[in-house]
Amino acid sequence: MKTPLRVAVTGAAGQIGYSLLFRIASGAMFGPDQPVILQLIEAPIEKAMQALQGVSMELDDCAFPLLKGQVLTDDPNVGFKDANWCLLVGAKPRGAGMERADLLKDNGKIFIGQGKVIDAVAAGDARVVVVGNPANTNCMIAASQAKRLPSDRYTAMVRLDQNRAQAQIAKKSGRDLTDVKDVFIYGNHSPTMFPAYAHATIGGKPAAGVINDTAWLQGAFCETVGKRGAAIIAARGLSSAASAANALVDHVRDLRTPGVVHSVGVKSAGEYGFDPEVWAGMPVRTTTPGSWEVVRGYAMDDFAKTKLAATNKELVEERALVVDMLKG
Ligand code: NAD
Ligand code: LMR
Repeated sequence: MKTPLRVAVTGAAGQIGYSLLFRIASGAMFGPDQPVILQLIEAPIEKAMQALQGVSMELDDCAFPLLKGQVLTDDPNVGFKDANWCLLVGAKPRGAGMERADLLKDNGKIFIGQGKVIDAVAAGDARVVVVGNPANTNCMIAASQAKRLPSDRYTAMVRLDQNRAQAQIAKKSGRDLTDVKDVFIYGNHSPTMFPAYAHATIGGKPAAGVINDTAWLQGAFCETVGKRGAAIIAARGLSSAASAANALVDHVRDLRTPGVVHSVGVKSAGEYGFDPEVWAGMPVRTTTPGSWEVVRGYAMDDFAKTKLAATNKELVEERALVVDMLKG
């Protein structure tokens, strides 16, 4: 029996939490032979902590063989203690008519405090994934608090966008989802993101050739993927939750699987023209479990370069808005 991994999840009683925790405890994220201890962190609000008790009872009632313990707390010092994975979901979601960046003022400060505590008390091998919006910039804020953990341990989730892009290409081409490969997300988790289709394949052939509709690829496709979150809010009255939890399962599982290339928000070192220091979605290859390298070689045409510049500009602007929240 392997030693259990300690998995800290913030916002554990929220919408995403309710879809996520059961997937982690069932083995979907860390594998069918990896036990876990869930360290569930909620806001210090009576209603939230009470809801968390209910979620915990349901976890008990699933009798998951891999779930070796639960910690329920509103104290990040307790919740992040010795955590191997810190999944930062807890933050305000946007409502109709808002952009994710509108959340920066309220949500940004959460990641200052949590970033500091994680750096102080999490395990030496800790990995941190930020889901709470705006995810890229919140990830930068959390990472900036660290003195001990290196910045490559902090990733922002753009995997939901990759999954959305793959599904749209499969639908348009009438092909099975599993035939669609290598569609990657560049930049911000916002409408400016660039779902790069030029290197995607369908059944091993260039997707652009199979689809043969450049106007759709450059127009409706980018627009649909970029604004999918808002479309879901308009339809449900609530932001995406089950698909976000599923994307987080994919993000962590693939970050633990050497050789997989997938879209992850990471600290730029200037690849693809991104400003060094911003956290940008890019294709990364997992090297060893939890570690990655950016896949650098993809050529970009003029359309792609314009899209990359626009999403980089937005990331730089978001960074300027939170400069007071960044340390060092
Ligand atoms: P929710 O409101 O249902 O749940 C959020 C939970 O976080 C609440 O239970 C709240 O009490 C808790 N919380 C707030 N502050 C906290 C803190 N300081 N510490 C611990 N817990 C705290 O929201 P949700 O639908 O679960 O969404 C959570 C976040 O994820 C939002 O910011 C949303 O926009 C974002 N999101 C990101 C993606 C993505 O692809 N990156 C996708 C979907 C949603
Ligand atoms: C999403 O993409 O569904 C989430 O980021 C939620 C949102 O605000 O769009």
